[in-house]
Amino acid sequence: MSIAGFVVSLRMIPVAARYVLKRNMFGYDINKKGTPQGNIKVPESLGIVIGIVYLVIAILFQHFNFTADSNWLVEYNAALACICFMTLLGFVDDVLDVPWRLKLVLPSFAALPLLMAYAGHTSIIIPKPLIQYVGVAVLDLGWIYKLYMGMLAVFCTNSINIHAGLNGLEAGQTVVISAAILIHNVMQIGASSDLEYKQAHAFSIYLVLPLLTTSLALLSYNWYPSSVFVGDTYTYFAGMAMAVVGILGHFSETLLLFFLPQVLNFLYSCPQLFKIIPCPRHRLPRFDPKTGLLTGTNDGTLVNLFLRLFGKCSEKSLCIRLLIFQVPYFVLRRLCHASCVFG
Ligand code: UD1
Ligand code: MG
Repeated sequence: MSIAGFVVSLRMIPVAARYVLKRNMFGYDINKKGTPQGNIKVPESLGIVIGIVYLVIAILFQHFNFTADSNWLVEYNAALACICFMTLLGFVDDVLDVPWRLKLVLPSFAALPLLMAYAGHTSIIIPKPLIQYVGVAVLDLGWIYKLYMGMLAVFCTNSINIHAGLNGLEAGQTVVISAAILIHNVMQIGASSDLEYKQAHAFSIYLVLPLLTTSLALLSYNWYPSSVFVGDTYTYFAGMAMAVVGILGHFSETLLLFFLPQVLNFLYSCPQLFKIIPCPRHRLPRFDPKTGLLTGTNDGTLVNLFLRLFGKCSEKSLCIRLLIFQVPYFVLRRLCHASCVFG
């Protein structure tokens, strides 16, 4: 079904691109300003195709998963409600340009269905040196853990959206993270004999596999030079999908490790996001049409930081560098796990 999703997305994106252009939903490629490519109207919000194809696959799939018990189906459908709600909010944002304060708050409402239905653990394992102070080895955090999961959903949706603005970066980071999540799940299933644990990771796979394949289809159009833009519809959809995958798979802490570049970008962005220093509409690098190279500005983003640290480069190379920067944390997670297992 995920492969079918890839093929359908590949076919539908050009069709939908013509429709959105007719409705005047387009953007100009800012990192090509001053060149003929900078004057082309690039169709915007093509994430809507991915959101719809993904939801159709996920809704149909539950009819074929005969092993699922009713508890899991409640959580699964609650997760779909969250993803659906977030896709809608993303589309509304693309059409109406929602202010930043609302962008930060709305995902917390979108995450509520899953938090209400969540039947997994709400406890954390206390590290050995701290047990004498806390008094227990496993501490049940109850609603505080749910609050943390809600904040995770808000973080994931916004963090993908603000690590953006280069051809291929929005879809590319989703492809890398969802591939890492997929591999992580497969390895966890292989390493465990606990049925409930395996089932949690299997459900996570059911939700992440169509995200990976449909995002690959989108990336093929969004890669440099982009013939379509993904829109906030896609960034919000993808962020929420990855958050629910981590929550349903019961590995939300590991998920944050896969999001480490996004965490760094978010922390670096905080002064501008919270208006401590001025925040322009686009916090993108400066493009030189003569050389075709980008130069980093003082805006607090990883994109600009990379350019300042490693020098000017083309948009395509910068995107590749940032996507490579996304990978080591998955390897780090594997190494941590191996060192725990082998002492
Ligand atoms: C977020 C970022 C903003 C960044 C923008 C780019 C914050 C607070 N906001 O805003 O700094 O400029 O994403 O997506 O960090 N675009 C390109 N090339 C691309 C992708 C997008 O030029 O590869 C431009 C196009 O004009 C497109 C527009 O960005 O129409 C989309 O911006 P939008 O996603 O609406 O911006 P925000 O999410 O509000
Ligand atoms: Mg955006």
